[in-house]
Amino acid sequence: MADFIKHPEVPLPDLDPAPSFSEEELVFTEEERAQIAEYVRRYPTADGAVMRALWLAQEKFGFLPPEVIRLVAETLGIPYAQAYGVATFYTQYYKQKKGRYVLDVCTSFSCQLCGGYDMLHYLEEQLGIQKGETTEDGLFTLQEVECLGACGSAPMLQVTNGPYVFNLTPEKLDALLEDLRAGKMPAFTSVTLPQDEDEMGGNRRSDAPQSAVYETPPVARTLE
Ligand code: FES
Repeated sequence: MADFIKHPEVPLPDLDPAPSFSEEELVFTEEERAQIAEYVRRYPTADGAVMRALWLAQEKFGFLPPEVIRLVAETLGIPYAQAYGVATFYTQYYKQKKGRYVLDVCTSFSCQLCGGYDMLHYLEEQLGIQKGETTEDGLFTLQEVECLGACGSAPMLQVTNGPYVFNLTPEKLDALLEDLRAGKMPAFTSVTLPQDEDEMGGNRRSDAPQSAVYETPPVARTLE
């Protein structure tokens, strides 16, 4: 039997960590409660609004430790376990405190082929941290993530569950870090993929020099 089956090392979550927020901090304002009530109004039952209410809580508190999840559950009038189950299922809900900006660098297949790891390691060097860590000033958390559904614009990253930055190069990353340090989030953009070979110029990384990492032609050889 494989060793990892005999001795699985599954880190269990701390079910009762020291609270991150005091009782005074742990409240929704009247306005926030009204917003949550408005969410509830749009669904047949209150539990339908749990995702939106958790999102509101994350935007207010920055992350979702157990006491914040409990606040959401109590506000909605649903069992804590139900809100906890949703919050812990989605990685977009942060269970630990993160930096002000969370950089999710995709290293799945397309991004990996187009230099996703080069981009991740470049950010590690520039920020002086490894993936999964947060800079000392609390500004950046760097994460490696699975496919974010923008494979045609690889390599790419996402900033704090928000805008995507496409066709990454070290220069683009430098500019992104500079903008974020100045408090400027990238704009939401959508990308239309080039439709023919001429537009692609033989390489979908149209604004990046072709590198040794990317040697696959844009059209499968079997189709030529
Ligand atoms: S592989 Fe990176 S977005 Fe799909």
